Amino acid sequence: MVNKGIILAGGTGTRMSPLTKAVNKQLLPIYDKPLIFYPLSILMLSKIKNILIIVNKGQLDQYKKLIPNGNNLGINLTYAEQESPRGLPEAFILGENFIGNDNVALILGDNFFYGQGLTNVLIKSKKIKKGVKVILHKVIKPELYGVAKINYKNKILGIREKPKKYYSDLAITGLYYFDNKVVQYSKKLKVSKRNELEITDLLKKYLKRQEMTYELLGRGGAWLDTGSIEDFYKTSNFVAAIENRQGFKIACIEEIALNNKWIKKDKVINAIKFYGNCEYSKYLKKIISS
Ligand code: G1P
Repeated sequence: MVNKGIILAGGTGTRMSPLTKAVNKQLLPIYDKPLIFYPLSILMLSKIKNILIIVNKGQLDQYKKLIPNGNNLGINLTYAEQESPRGLPEAFILGENFIGNDNVALILGDNFFYGQGLTNVLIKSKKIKKGVKVILHKVIKPELYGVAKINYKNKILGIREKPKKYYSDLAITGLYYFDNKVVQYSKKLKVSKRNELEITDLLKKYLKRQEMTYELLGRGGAWLDTGSIEDFYKTSNFVAAIENRQGFKIACIEEIALNNKWIKKDKVINAIKFYGNCEYSKYLKKIISS
């Protein structure tokens, strides 16, 4: 079982400069709420209550203004600062004390997931006892991601990071459920040619031991990128289209906490006061009055 989660929200956001010069990328808006709400909601939908957010050095105050602690969400939220980004597995080295002897999920701060069957996939994935579970999703441009090749018996045959030549069109999304060995494995990794610790190298350690499994986020689900300005607008449009059609909000963290029975209405009322008079608060009011 995985009951702890890390959101890696560091990174320089170079591709989105000048927007990211003063503000962390994960605090920029995806339609009506900051990007960070989306990965946070995914961990909360996985019923993970113990969460560490890793942010860039010097940007902690920005986060604390938005989500000071997990009180209003009924979760245990802590922050750690990263001196300079050295690759995804660094999350497990920085998070060693937080992880302790437990298993841990990692979600990249800029990953967006949505879909009917998603919560089932999340709940199934967090049940691992041993090894790593990844979430695969078919994409048209596999060369942009880590990819996994699978066989007809649902076994992972191999993985590659951003393959120049076609290898598989199943991307390894930025959501991983690891057993506790991840800390020890991460510490043994060597930096790659691009001078980073690579998540694919980490996954390979599990694959070699036949301890890497996957869940598929099928065509009814969406995994979107928020890597570039263009992607930000596309994802924002996606969220707007769904929210304005159905009237439900995607990644309303207070609503998820309430549904999980982690909080009662009084905390939502606190949140309404905190956010002030805005559309998001109106939605929260609607939830508690229905
Ligand atoms: C990283 C990982 C890659 C994964 C992707 C998911 O890529 O290295 O394996 O598929 O995240 O978002 P990067 O964002 O560093 O290009």
